[in-house]
Parts: sequence; structure tokens; C-alpha cells
Amino acid sequence: MSDVLIHAEAGVTTITFNRVDKKNSITGAMYGALADALAAAEADPVQRVVVLQGHETIFSAGNDIGDFLNAPPSGEDSPVFRFLRGIAGFSKPLIAAVCGPAVGVGTTMLFHCDLVYAGDNAAFSMPFVNLGLVPEAASSLLVPQMLGYHRAAEALLLGEPFMAEAALEVGLVNRVVPPSEVTNLAQAQARKLAAKPLASLVATKKLLKKGSADQVLARMDEEGAIFRRMLAEPAAREAFGAFMERRKPDFSKL
Ligand code: COA
Repeated sequence: MSDVLIHAEAGVTTITFNRVDKKNSITGAMYGALADALAAAEADPVQRVVVLQGHETIFSAGNDIGDFLNAPPSGEDSPVFRFLRGIAGFSKPLIAAVCGPAVGVGTTMLFHCDLVYAGDNAAFSMPFVNLGLVPEAASSLLVPQMLGYHRAAEALLLGEPFMAEAALEVGLVNRVVPPSEVTNLAQAQARKLAAKPLASLVATKKLLKKGSADQVLARMDEEGAIFRRMLAEPAAREAFGAFMERRKPDFSKL
């Protein structure tokens, strides 16, 4: 079975992370499939809404750490950056259904979704600093805009998880429900949107994002250049090695 499932029905494209044994961590091949699925939904006039979802126990553990070690993204056209530009620029409504941990890009992609529904087991975290990295997906811009500076600093400097209720309070999440209800809720909202006039949805989303779209892409590029450089530096190598060896990283000399 593929690590990314794509199902299109009644104007709704549902994209499912399907690598549960590895906590839905995302490989380069998966980013490629995700970017292609978004591009196909963007181009197909029949598709009006996209839903991103994981499993009831895990949304995504973020970037595959083995890939970070052995096949890091090398340039702006790497699959991960194609995916990030794809969600940031997606013109139609994007909905996320999030249960369980949403780590790294598992959380930062949500800042590009229009509606986010979460299970009460959802835990959001952006532990880039803990991995010797910097934020990506324009999260260094979007997180302080949404959470305010101090809560953003807590989330991005400490990298500690925050739970569904906290995400609801700051506006990252629209509604929190039991995990078994999240998928149905997201699909019901998607069907409502799919019944609306597409041109109006697209124009409204464009107006909502007006003023921030260029800034988001510029920040994404800026973060991406630093991120790619830091992937090869000693702190990140120590963090990735520690994860693989199931030990605490030692940054004392770095
Ligand atoms: N990349 C690659 N493999 C990952 C992974 C990742 N980001 N996250 C989890 N896995 C793998 C583990 O190596 C393990 O594989 P194994 O069974 O072959 O040993 C499997 O998924 C289960 O993970 P485990 O850590 O045992 O699950 P858990 O329920 O105890 O914890 C998480 C779940 C998500 C909290 C934890 O896996 C985690 O913190 N992952 C890393 C998150 C991260 O730092 N991501 C990068 C963000 S930029």
C-alpha cells in the first residue's frame, strides 16, 4: 500500500498520510506524491476542496529523520519545498483533520490550511531547535502572527508540545472533537464547501490571504536556505544520530 493515499469523490480530494508504522513521518518520495496530488487538485476544475488527514492515533511525526541524515533536501526544487509552496499557494479550500502528534511540518503545514479540526488527543510541536534546525514553511512568520510573540517563542525556542485545547484557544484549530469523529467532521465541512460556487471560494480565499502571500513565500525561501545549510552542521547531525540511536542528544560542545 502506498504511503500517501489519494481519494477523489464529489469534488473533495482526500489525501491520507499512510505510513503509520513510522508515525506518518514524511519521506522525500511522500513529499513528491503530496506535491503532485495538490497540483492535480489545483488543476482539476471538478476538485473543489482538499482534506489532509493522518490516522486516529498520529497525524505526522514530521520529516523522516533518516532522510534528513541520508538524503537531505538539496535545493529549492526538492520535493519538500514543492510541497510547501503547493500548500502555501493552494487556491482552493484546504482542510486538515488532525489526531495525535503533529510534529514539525505536521504542525507547520496547518498554518496554510483554511480549516483545522482536531481530536482531543492532538499534540502540536515544532521542535526545530531541538534538532539543530530553524523553523520552516514560513512558521517563523505565521506562528508569531497567530500565537503572539511570547507564545511563539515558547513553541519555537523550547519546541514543547501544546495540546488541542491550547491550539483551539489561539485559533490554530477550529474545533476539537473525539478522535473518532474528526474525519467525519472534516468530510462534512468539505462537502459543504464543495457545494458552494468555486469562483467565489477561490476569490474569497485570495482576498483573505492578500497582503501576506508574497511575504509568506519570501520567508519560506529565507528559512529554506538556512534550514538546508543547518542540516549538514554538527548540531543537526548529533540530533539525528541521537534519534536513530534512541538516546538524548549532547549539544554541550556545540
Ligand atoms: N522519522 C523517521 N522515523 C520516525 C520518525 C521520524 N520523524 N518518527 C517516528 N519514527 C519511527 C521510529 O523510529 C520508530 O521506528 P521503529 O519502530 O522502526 O523503531 C517508529 O516510527 C515508532 O516511533 P516511536 O518513537 O517509537 O513512537 P512513539 O509513539 O514513542 O513516539 C513520536 C511518537 C511522534 C512522539 C516520536 O516518534 C517522535 O518524536 N518522532 C520524531 C519527531 C521529530 O522530531 N520529527 C522531525 C520534526 S522536524
